[in-house]
Amino acid sequence: MTTETNRALEQRVLVLAPIGRDALVTRDVLARAGIVAEPCADLAEVCAKFEEGAGALLLAEEALTVSGLALLSRAVGAQSPWSDVPIIISTGAGETTAARVRAVSSLEPSGNVTILERPVRVFTMITAVQSALRGRARQFQMRDLHLQLQRQMESLTAERELRARFVSLLAHDIRGPVTAAMLAAQVLLRSPERLDPRRELGVRIKRNLDRIEHMVRDILDASRVQAGQPLPLRLEGCELKTIVADVVEELNLLHADRVRLDAVEEVHGIWSADELRRAVWNLATNGIKYGAPHSPVTIAIRRIGGRARISVHNKGAPLSPDDRRRLFEPFARARSAEASSQVGWGLGLTLVRGCVEAHGGQVTVESGVEEGTTFTIEVPLDSRPFQPRASATEAPNPPSTVVAGAW
Ligand SMILES: Nc1ncnc2c1ncn2[C@@H]1O[C@H](COP(=O)(O)OP(=O)(O)O)[C@@H](O)[C@H]1O
Ligand SMILES: [Mg+2]
Repeated sequence: MTTETNRALEQRVLVLAPIGRDALVTRDVLARAGIVAEPCADLAEVCAKFEEGAGALLLAEEALTVSGLALLSRAVGAQSPWSDVPIIISTGAGETTAARVRAVSSLEPSGNVTILERPVRVFTMITAVQSALRGRARQFQMRDLHLQLQRQMESLTAERELRARFVSLLAHDIRGPVTAAMLAAQVLLRSPERLDPRRELGVRIKRNLDRIEHMVRDILDASRVQAGQPLPLRLEGCELKTIVADVVEELNLLHADRVRLDAVEEVHGIWSADELRRAVWNLATNGIKYGAPHSPVTIAIRRIGGRARISVHNKGAPLSPDDRRRLFEPFARARSAEASSQVGWGLGLTLVRGCVEAHGGQVTVESGVEEGTTFTIEVPLDSRPFQPRASATEAPNPPSTVVAGAW
């Protein structure tokens, strides 16, 4: 939380004693007690250094000019609620001097002032400074605790917002297909004698239940990715051009031939065809949803050394660097997407990342006004070495990592 440099700044004593060698002598005396003291030329320097961090201020009364005191009282007043820097002022002995009254009263009510009357014995000064530093260390502990609590509160608030968002998305998106399936089932039950419409209704029920099943699977997989667990893959020998061509064909039926395939050669590898299909589908539908309207989305496939590269490109408004960092997190959506009519859960890119990383690869994004947006997936040609090893208690060949098919 606090770096070594900060720690050192927080333990130093700023000394202001303008007469002769007083400040240097004080520094050496404190150094012998293991206390780091830094002499300052005037109160302006004390204030500037105090901003960077200090354990206590040790000031000689005669150095407290009116303008300097105004500066100091402003700096003391501007401290965070946890901070109350100890200020030790050494004064002339005997009668209360006007300067002493001025010093103490200008630092009230926020100042934590101790007066040491001169002549001050070395032992007294060291004890006073040590006790001031102990009190100050407690303040820094409170600050650290406060920061820790604040961070926890922020993450709890973020989590609560996420949950609320999740519930409303769930209610909105899952109720649609459930209602449609329920209506179809009701009609089916009401007229069992009519055979053909029953088939049509059965298809509708199945389609809607499939949609729900997909949504639930996406949610579970995204939470798995968020928890840092790899997605289970069913590895098999596959060919990338065929997988992507299937996705392109399906999307072109729905989106008036907007998706183009740029594949020079076949690329064979050992991957999960289902998961790669899901990743490419997500990236391509994003290109259609968030790219410039009616503009093409191009999916290029290349083999580069021992890796396969799939890049999905679209024109349109670019993603900011901040968005590019965030969007792979669950439920993250760019502000422009939230404002648009495009609905979504913000899980697609999390699933893409999960799928690619489970294959031992990476997904990256580049975006600019001229260039448009390109998401690039790179996976090794053989993902088998990247599968988690079966633990001793598991079956030797868990069904999630089966290698099938020769090629
Ligand atoms: N090709 C793209 N061009 C511009 N923005 C994109 C693109 N792909 C994704 N995004 C942004 O990333 C966000 C997250 O995408 P995704 O995880 O697939 O969730 P969803 O599509 O459900 O919003 C989108 O909401 C959108 O803001
Ligand atoms: Mg999406």
